[in-house]
Amino acid sequence: MTTVHLGSKTWIFLNNKRVVAEIIAKRGSFTNGRSPMPVASGIVSRRGRSLLLPPSGWTEKRRVMHSLLSDTALKQYAGWQELESTQLLAEYLHNPKLWYRNHYRYANSVVHRIALGERLAKTGKELAELQDVVTCFVGSIGSSLVDWFPELDSLPKFLHVWRKHWEKVGNWNYEVYRSWWDPVRRQIDAGIAPPSFVRDVLLEKNTKFTGDDQETMYVAMQLIEAGSDTTHEALNIFVMSALCRPDVYQKAREEVDKICAPVSDTLRLPGIMDLEQMPYICALIKEVLRWRPIFPFTPDHPGVGFVINGILVCNDCEDPDTFKPERWLNGNETDVAHDLWQFGGGRRICYGYRLAQRGLSINIARLVMCYAYSTTGPYNSRHLNHHSTDEPFPVKVTIRSEEHEKLITEEATRAGVLEAAVGSNEV
Ligand code: HEM
Repeated sequence: MTTVHLGSKTWIFLNNKRVVAEIIAKRGSFTNGRSPMPVASGIVSRRGRSLLLPPSGWTEKRRVMHSLLSDTALKQYAGWQELESTQLLAEYLHNPKLWYRNHYRYANSVVHRIALGERLAKTGKELAELQDVVTCFVGSIGSSLVDWFPELDSLPKFLHVWRKHWEKVGNWNYEVYRSWWDPVRRQIDAGIAPPSFVRDVLLEKNTKFTGDDQETMYVAMQLIEAGSDTTHEALNIFVMSALCRPDVYQKAREEVDKICAPVSDTLRLPGIMDLEQMPYICALIKEVLRWRPIFPFTPDHPGVGFVINGILVCNDCEDPDTFKPERWLNGNETDVAHDLWQFGGGRRICYGYRLAQRGLSINIARLVMCYAYSTTGPYNSRHLNHHSTDEPFPVKVTIRSEEHEKLITEEATRAGVLEAAVGSNEV
């Protein structure tokens, strides 16, 4: 552990897996709080993002999100994950240069459907705008002195020189959220909305959610942004790993082929049901998240702020620089949260971690089976450029064979997503 006095607070960075397990998981009831963040949580998020709220504002929102983790929900979502993943494969075929945007569309479309009930019908520009909102929100965390010295927020309002800038960010964030939310809310109020988390849980009267329209909107939209950004980043890291370790890629492909192409004329796409027979793919997902952690720091858990120091925790293993899925082949590879703290832990553990595990596995199993990656220029495996809406690093995507192309076209046609895939990501 490292203790740091920053601003008016004491922070304790948890630097290895053992102390994270002790403090975040075993003592979760004492370490589930959050320090006040007047800028990132207050002005930018209008106290709507549960991620940054102290228990007083967080508990009620966490309660209503509970259904997202259930086995019944996951079973229903599996069909949507497979469908959107089939579209992703077809998008790769028709828009291979936009591989990174195809990842974002996949990630966004699944949580969009879960939260709001409909398949995604947004333009590339609208998706990029939401991605920018998340980038600005994440960038706001810790970037204002006021969040390090929260008592500054009690100064008389005319001294709040920071306010104008952050209010502009918060207002823009609010307007983008509204443009997604208002049409859905109108449909629900008119009784013509399809089943969804918002209709059937958040706004269902038996749930007795105490939030008003704005808070409901933030719960729904936080879900969409939390699920989209992380999942697309993980898929991009997977592509980077394919460039760096073609031998690992080949091994993963062999595992999938053994199940989905045991003899050459019986090619089929893997489904979520197959994942239990694919330990190497499951281990690969854990390695993707360990090798290049998405969260260098998982938010503080208070009084004294306990922060999971993601980079050191992920490096707490043998030969940490090497991308090596084998390290996870220990019987717990299908439990993506086991011994890997990228989803946080304890009472505040990510609500989407099981959904994310299935989504990443199914896409990665299908991508290794059907496509190959090479590079078209210099790259640095530590420069993932997650927050770019352009190509983050130079990649050439190639279909594996005519048979694989035929399979994807047939499956996309059967699922009714071919047309959408051809026209997807138009700006
Ligand atoms: C690779 C994928 C993902 C990673 C690495 C990830 C990671 C995280 C982390 C580190 C947290 C904060 C946990 C803490 O406070 O200790 C979190 C919170 C959250 N995540 Fe994820 N996440 C992923 C995917 C998803 C997905 C797919 C969803 C959508 C269902 C989701 C929904 C949420 C929500 C709603 C929260 C806030 C929970 C709360 O306020 O209590 N995440 N996630």
